[in-house]
Amino acid sequence: MKIVVTGSIAYDYLMFFPGEFTNHLLEEQLKSISVSFLVDSLRRERGGTAPNIAYTLALLGGHPGVMATAGQDFAEYRHWLEKHGVDTTAIIEISDEFCASFFVNTDQAQNQIGHFYAGAMAYAARLSFASLAPDTDLTIISPNEPAAMRAHVAECKALSIPYIYDPSQQTIRLSAEDLVHGIDGCFLLSLNEYELGMIHEKTGLTQAGILQRTGGLLVTAGQRGSRIYVNGECYEIPVVPPVHIVEPTGAGDAYRAGLMRGLQLGLPWPVAGRIGAVAAAYVLENMGTQNHFFTREAFVARYRQHFDDGGALDALLG
Ligand SMILES: Nc1ncnc2c1ncn2[C@@H]1O[C@H](COP(=O)(O)OP(=O)(O)OP(=O)(O)O)[C@@H](O)[C@H]1O
Ligand SMILES: [Mg+2]
Repeated sequence: MKIVVTGSIAYDYLMFFPGEFTNHLLEEQLKSISVSFLVDSLRRERGGTAPNIAYTLALLGGHPGVMATAGQDFAEYRHWLEKHGVDTTAIIEISDEFCASFFVNTDQAQNQIGHFYAGAMAYAARLSFASLAPDTDLTIISPNEPAAMRAHVAECKALSIPYIYDPSQQTIRLSAEDLVHGIDGCFLLSLNEYELGMIHEKTGLTQAGILQRTGGLLVTAGQRGSRIYVNGECYEIPVVPPVHIVEPTGAGDAYRAGLMRGLQLGLPWPVAGRIGAVAAAYVLENMGTQNHFFTREAFVARYRQHFDDGGALDALLG
């Protein structure tokens, strides 16, 4: 079963300013600002929803593909993904653009000044499963350029490709019409609790209404775990406690990767959800969204410390 992940590809440029911005933004001078902050450190982290999900899926042995657009600065990122088992043949480089880039400067008081440049991501609506990934058995439509999310939904419907609709943080930017179109007929809708509330508000769809239109609903709730509504059941998925939390971003993406790996192996929903919860714990323990690593043996051992799989996870080792 071939899984193809769609979503953004981005670099995060993280800077730290050893002072406080507010001491340098003088109120009487705010009409014409010209400030420069000399920063202490700069880190560039690999990010973007598509590679985040695909990386964890690859660690779990899922051989995922990614369909997305990237920029002229993508070569080393591609190499990293390929090295870990992600098929990048459907990642198209836009020659005159850079990868989507998030520049953020954080000061000592945790104030932040950020800039997001869409770059190559803005071209993602051009991509098509028919030409780039015709063998897709299951896809996930994760946060990306809104036009691309819309186009991927339309194409999945036209080609009858089952898709997980994952508007997540882009729920804010998508119109009610886009959201309803994406939800209608999806294999699974995935969101966190807050985003689900936003869906209710924007589309007027109740949870029962959503369940009528979809194959299922995944709602994540941070440290309170997650719930999977499917086939008239509600499965409560507990969390796996991280040893320590270094940074929270990317937990949602890792969870989705684990869940999809479980589905790919034909495991029951409650097992697939728990694979997601274990994967999320690894991400929480590391800075960034692709700096975690595990072998499949270590992963299965960790799962078995918390849950009884009745041997089902042998499938992950084979
Ligand atoms: N503090 C935590 N401890 C243990 N597990 C957690 C914690 N936070 C998140 N998780 C796991 O990750 C899953 C997804 O987390 P969450 O609901 O925060 O996603 P999210 O809001 O989409 O996050 P993001 O978009 O930043 O990755 C949870 O259902 C849970 O399994
Ligand atoms: Mg999220």
